[in-house]
Amino acid sequence: MTAKTFYGTSWQALDRARRQVLQTVRAERESPRRPGAVLYTTSRIKSPESACRKLRQRGLPPTPQAALTRLRDTVGVRVICAFQDDVYQMARYLEERPEFAVLQTKDYISHPKENGYRSYHLILGILEGPGKGVTVEVQLRTIATDCWASLEHQIKYKRQVPHEGLVREELKRCADEIASVDLSMETIRELLEGA
Ligand code: GTP
Ligand code: MG
Repeated sequence: MTAKTFYGTSWQALDRARRQVLQTVRAERESPRRPGAVLYTTSRIKSPESACRKLRQRGLPPTPQAALTRLRDTVGVRVICAFQDDVYQMARYLEERPEFAVLQTKDYISHPKENGYRSYHLILGILEGPGKGVTVEVQLRTIATDCWASLEHQIKYKRQVPHEGLVREELKRCADEIASVDLSMETIRELLEGA
């Protein structure tokens, strides 16, 4: 089933919300304050399969109505930045927009998950604009941690992970090394900028 069929008349509102948040990121990205801070963005409306799986896991009915009212990541936007510092600046920018209400923030950069996952998550409620009334999950991370997250994500869909203990241990080690490299590169950039 397509998302349009599943969400019905609400699909348009979800898509307007998705585009509004992307547009806000783009406007800041193109501002002269920090050129090159945002490398790219991706976005999605949660697939019916994924929405229904999550609803069932939570003991909720797998209906479009429940997906629209009980899930907060039905619309998702990912912002990939060059450096950690850019992640925080873009997060601040979004948090300060008057048209968004910050419903939740999770700073997995300052407080990485046990597996090594690092990202900054924002749940935004749109108060004004084309996406008014919709809730959007924004994930901000560096390009290096994005690469890690896509590799780590593959484990979730594997029923059998060969050498699971070793794989998780190695992934954790990579996550920590990436974080350390991210910081070193940020320091180099600061030196280059004479900051
Ligand atoms: P979900 O129910 O999975 O959406 O998580 P949550 O409600 O506990 O929120 P959280 O902010 O922890 O995670 C939201 C989203 O961040 C997930 O749906 C994933 O897209 C991403 N994410 C969170 N933790 C991990 C992780 O350990 N690895 C990867 N690859 N992605 C993660
Ligand atoms: Mg999710």
